[in-house]
Amino acid sequence: MKGIILAGGTGSRLHPLTIGVSKQLLPVYDKPMIYYPLATLMQGGIREVMVITAPEDADAFYRLLGDGTQWGMALDYAVQPAPTGIAESFLIAREFLDGEGCTLILGDNLFHGWGLSDLLQKTFVGATGATVFAQEVHDPERYGVVTFDEQGTATSIVEKPDQPGSNWAVTGLYAYDHRVVSYAESLRPSARGELEITAINQIYLDHGELNVSKFGRGMAWLDTGTFDSMVAASEFVRVLEQRQSTKIGCVEETAWRMGWISDDQLVALAQPLLKSGYGDFLVNLVS
Ligand code: TTP
Repeated sequence: MKGIILAGGTGSRLHPLTIGVSKQLLPVYDKPMIYYPLATLMQGGIREVMVITAPEDADAFYRLLGDGTQWGMALDYAVQPAPTGIAESFLIAREFLDGEGCTLILGDNLFHGWGLSDLLQKTFVGATGATVFAQEVHDPERYGVVTFDEQGTATSIVEKPDQPGSNWAVTGLYAYDHRVVSYAESLRPSARGELEITAINQIYLDHGELNVSKFGRGMAWLDTGTFDSMVAASEFVRVLEQRQSTKIGCVEETAWRMGWISDDQLVALAQPLLKSGYGDFLVNLVS
């Protein structure tokens, strides 16, 4: 399965921070925001990833992430001319996907929790239909909201409802089979002028092929789209990293743990990062 990170958008809730810099390049504690969703895809075993950015930010993302070979990956790039909807990413990535299914992750979503890697790998391997990941939140009206019947089967999915039918919000991580491109081609812009990801999920739901995987309490899902949520995410990462002497969203470590790069390659990647302490962490993994 291939991956897409959608890292465009206007980031207007973070203005003026995001006037000169893409939101997904801003720091979440000790690394750029996009490392977190990239590491999540990697934990799911996904090595071929397309990064979709706003046109003016493409160079900066390439400078940061390169072609991915340094992590045993293949990274492709594409631009979204204007932020006209999350589902547009499947049209932009049509040739990259080349008839395969894909996992889409939003470039400002951070996931962390026990068992995530296993869960993702089980979901992504041989998946048919669609899988979305949902979590209970206190403010579901800000998200796509799923309701379930007594058997736990999804019955509806509504974007930003005034009266949410449940507290289960759809997170920014979605897995689709190869049909997603043709479903995206059939969409028309919504009232707010966007190709809505909820509309794609609705098509799978109508076909009885929308699987909703519920994240439990052990899973942290943070989005980083406002001043406060960005600071909260940084603080979350800082506290866990310092307390447990680990790193969250560390792409170099993930590549090494997945067996995509050797000990020597990891140590080489650490060299330009030694002054910040990030490199020491990588070197210590090997020793
Ligand atoms: P949003 O948070 O909905 O939008 P935004 O990032 O532009 O921020 P704001 O509301 O403050 O203006 O987007 C969620 C994620 O999806 C984010 O990583 C940006 C990305 N996105 C795109 O890349 N293109 C799009 O057309 C849309 C709607 C979102």
